[in-house]
Amino acid sequence: MYNKRVLITRIFPDIGAESLKAAGFSVTVWNNDRPMTQEELIEKSKHHDALFCTLTDKIDKKFLGECSHLDVISQFAVGYDNIDIPEASRLGIPVGFTPNAMNDATADVAFGLMIATSRKMFYLHKKIIDGGWGYFRPNANLGIELKNKTLGIYGLGRIGTEMAKRCKGAYNMKILYHNRKPNEKAEKELNARYVDFNTLLNQSDVISVHCSLNENTKGVFNKEAFSRMKPTSIFINTSRGGVHNERDLSEALNAGLIWGAGLDVTNPEPMQPDNPLLQMENVSVLPHIGSGTIEARNEMARLAAENIIEFYKNKHIPHIVNPDTLKNK
Ligand code: DGY
Repeated sequence: MYNKRVLITRIFPDIGAESLKAAGFSVTVWNNDRPMTQEELIEKSKHHDALFCTLTDKIDKKFLGECSHLDVISQFAVGYDNIDIPEASRLGIPVGFTPNAMNDATADVAFGLMIATSRKMFYLHKKIIDGGWGYFRPNANLGIELKNKTLGIYGLGRIGTEMAKRCKGAYNMKILYHNRKPNEKAEKELNARYVDFNTLLNQSDVISVHCSLNENTKGVFNKEAFSRMKPTSIFINTSRGGVHNERDLSEALNAGLIWGAGLDVTNPEPMQPDNPLLQMENVSVLPHIGSGTIEARNEMARLAAENIIEFYKNKHIPHIVNPDTLKNK
């Protein structure tokens, strides 16, 4: 129907390719488990009109310079820090993304990491595997409780709100947050209180990061920030590893500046197996599985396909990062 060729850069849930095919697109899927190198990505994209991609694809100035013919880029993710958005906008290329689909899935991972870290679960699991259970020892392996503690959300948007709901419902936690702008809805519904960054750091028992990675958030959780947190606090990051400085985090944990950390995102990814964080008692690490449920990934694939279909059909993208690019289409 559209005579347009879509390049799908990874093996995504079938609903993505199937919706596009059903709408009449010609679809090429990169059928390998690994991401394409940038050279492969550029070469293949040159023969396509639209790109269905994700965070492992480097859509930078170089890529966009060589593939400025693309009509639309549809990102399978809520985060799009792998894409040079100002450059895509300058070239007039609309970029779609898939918000909301993973709100619950990612909040579940943040909540799970918080509990796992507070009770050293990952470390103790490894200890059993290593034959280290031993006797019941009344004073060993002690964790900390979360009831009535204070949760500090850095970036109280869709996912942060779901995390706050879980913490309030399960543990009656008090909610503080720091954002670019106040979130009045969350203030009403969760009795959340907006605070400056410093207050968030020094009053929270758990800090959970839910912001996007950009120039303002890159590395904000550094030595200075960790030194202002409570020595009994837990740091959770399920957004992007670039928001914290990994070496500073390791040092803060070693020095007892904070109590523990739960990470679903690292910098770089994948985290190397010899990373000292993996040996620490109060650290829980997961391999970026925030949106990794069948439900969330299917919905992400559906939305990413819909963004392309709607673009060609109605010059409209339901979830778009740079809406100004649609003005002259
Ligand atoms: C996102 O959507 O940005 C997740 O990090 C990957 O699914």
